Amino acid sequence: IPPELIDDFGRRVRYVRISVTDRCDFRCVYCMSEEMTFLPRAQVLTLEELALVARAFVELGVEKVRLTGGEPLVRRDIGTLVEQVGALPGLRDFAMTTNGAGLGKHAERLRQAGLKRLNISLDSLDPERFRALTRTGDLDRVIDGIRAARAAGFERIKLNAVILKGRNDDEVLDLVDFAREEGLDISFIEEMPLGDVSDHRRDETYCSSDEVQALIEARYPLLPTTETTLGPSRYFRMADSESRVGFISPHSHNFCATCNRVRVTVEGRLLLCLGNEHSVDLRAVLRRHPGDIDALKRAIVAAMPLKPERHHFTTDGDVQVVRFMNMTGG
Ligand code: GTP
Ligand code: 5AD
Ligand code: SF4
Repeated sequence: IPPELIDDFGRRVRYVRISVTDRCDFRCVYCMSEEMTFLPRAQVLTLEELALVARAFVELGVEKVRLTGGEPLVRRDIGTLVEQVGALPGLRDFAMTTNGAGLGKHAERLRQAGLKRLNISLDSLDPERFRALTRTGDLDRVIDGIRAARAAGFERIKLNAVILKGRNDDEVLDLVDFAREEGLDISFIEEMPLGDVSDHRRDETYCSSDEVQALIEARYPLLPTTETTLGPSRYFRMADSESRVGFISPHSHNFCATCNRVRVTVEGRLLLCLGNEHSVDLRAVLRRHPGDIDALKRAIVAAMPLKPERHHFTTDGDVQVVRFMNMTGG
């Protein structure tokens, strides 16, 4: 078994995103349809299986693990998993992407269990709009969650905002100001066409990162940096703040050539690219050979040639990937 993971395009995989649940207490319009059904428990990886998957990747040279969902904090015993993954030798960065609603309850425990960084989704600072975009979310609760996370002493906290024309593009500067006041980084994301989210018209809401950047530059000149969190964000600095502004631009600035990541879906499918369906069933391996880390590692290594060169997302509202975002957490 080789010591690292390299695909057929010479890209080294250093980052794994593991979805720990498809469930979520929100129903963001661009992520889920209003009436979602969730998977029966038997189809979802157990905590033991998840921990073994993380260990296998770290033993294969992966340096960064991110837990996603759905909403990772609705998974029972998430703290135990965080503890196990956090203790893996060789892991340099350990992060979670969350909607923030559960942080008031969980932030302290997560930090103590070894989680280093948090990315918190925040698309609006207006309570009614926030409710409309998330369908069920309570803005105050998320803001309290963000403050609980700050108090718990995470290394870096980053906000994620998906900017949609006519929905929240007039809030870009307010979101930057909020990040500055709270001492947080913020990334602006171009919406991607994953899952048929029926009652939301993606073709009408696409907003490019360059448009968002122009809105910010009207108040804060942005200085390019070479900083990286090993993710897709291109980071900029402002002269008078510690906060970084990032842009995640799958449509307008394709970043596939430097892709360093793979995903494990909530059902244990190793997905080689967010924008394609090439995958390998790790759950089958885990259940055929329970606890056998070498079998798992061999399956992961064997999957590398399936990693496609790039995604082929468009902004015309066409869905090429039927899988909903909550299976992979983005
Ligand atoms: P950092 O570790 O802070 O750099 O986070 P990250 O950007 O890697 O992760 P996060 O969960 O915050 O994801 C932010 C957005 O980037 C989400 O909308 C993801 O779907 C998107 N994203 C992350 N990786 C990829 C990728 O490989 N391809 C595409 N198209 N989008 C990605
Ligand atoms: N396009 C872009 N980003 C999305 N997210 C969820 N669905 C989409 C989509 N269709 C974002 C969430 C979260 C991150 C993990 O992915 O807002 O911040
Ligand atoms: Fe839940 Fe995140 Fe999807 Fe929103 S984007 S519905 S918070 S999983």
